Amino acid sequence: MKSSIVVVAACLLVAAACLPAVSAAWAASDGKSLYLEHCAGCHGKDGAKAGGAAAPPAGQNSQAVYAKLRGYADGSEGGKLKNIMLNVTRKLDDAGMRAVSDYIETLPAAR
Ligand code: HEC
Repeated sequence: MKSSIVVVAACLLVAAACLPAVSAAWAASDGKSLYLEHCAGCHGKDGAKAGGAAAPPAGQNSQAVYAKLRGYADGSEGGKLKNIMLNVTRKLDDAGMRAVSDYIETLPAAR
């Protein structure tokens, strides 16, 4: 009985110690999974495809991408095909837009 309590306590300690590391890993990969799920179909896995846009996402900094996503979401940004991006940005909340913008900034510019 006593030993099982010790085991449970040890497990809880290990879990507590590991939790911050696990959640940091999730946050870091979050923008990538959002990108691959919602964006790669049109802009390519590496963000190098314009996919109907004036410029491909890769090579733009996080601020610029985020501003465009916000603009598409509120209707103030975009060209002829902006309704496509309106539908996409509707699926993302603000944190998602920031995460995906941060991820895009890590993609090398298309050559
Ligand atoms: C169904 C295809 C499609 C998907 C999916 C898609 N896009 Fe787009 N994207 C477009 C089109 C088309 C445009 C150009 C719209 C216009 O006319 O303004 C565009 C424009 C953009 C632009 C502006 C580029 C520029 O510099 O003018 C950015 C940034 C962008 N998309 C990022 C994303 C991100 C991030 C996602 C995922 C959350 C995404 N797109 C998903 C088709 C798509």
